[in-house]
Amino acid sequence: MTKIIIIPGSTREDSVNAKLGEAIRLKLIELGAEADLISLANYPMSIFNQDDEAENGVLESAKELASHITDYQGVVLINPEYNGSLTPLLKNTLDWLSRDVGEKVYQNRIFALAACSPGALGGIRGLSHLRDILVSVVADTITPQLAVGGAGDAFADDGTLTNERAQGMLKTMCETLIKRASLLT
Ligand SMILES: Cc1cc2nc3c(=O)[nH]c(=O)nc-3n(C[C@H](O)[C@H](O)[C@H](O)COP(=O)(O)O)c2cc1C
Repeated sequence: MTKIIIIPGSTREDSVNAKLGEAIRLKLIELGAEADLISLANYPMSIFNQDDEAENGVLESAKELASHITDYQGVVLINPEYNGSLTPLLKNTLDWLSRDVGEKVYQNRIFALAACSPGALGGIRGLSHLRDILVSVVADTITPQLAVGGAGDAFADDGTLTNERAQGMLKTMCETLIKRASLLT
């Protein structure tokens, strides 16, 4: 079975991007994949500093996350848009994972991008920045993406998306990701 890991770039208690992660998880399972939603709170990483890295090596938490990700053929990165870009949490995590973590995290798997925001655009500007970073690390990233605006009304009690257009984007993104990732199994 195709395995997908979902990584929200917010550890906030009531994070709307973690809620979107759950909606994505439910859809991936409905479409026949195995899907796990994780929290970066379980992988605390100091702000990357090259002097610290030279002195102390790569963080164990970065190695642990890298090792965990290699169990999966697909990765969904969910970015809470901060000032039109990435959260420091997600950027820092991606930078650590690009170092010598013992695994080639960005190769041999397929990436998909999503975002959720209270604003009308749903964090779509930040996804362009995230996509640029994935180009830099030569990560194979699918084109269909998901940006869910109006976060306050976006989720039903059962965790699914309320908006029909967002539901369509979710389905297209998940179907494409599963199709591409399943070729790697
Ligand atoms: C520093 C900062 C910058 C933000 N910039 C944007 C932005 O550019 N676009 C946007 O739609 N929302 C922006 N927001 C609002 C976030 O989308 C909102 O706080 C959201 O709930 C954060 O995601 P989370 O709930 O998953 O933590 C910003 C919030 C913060 C704290």
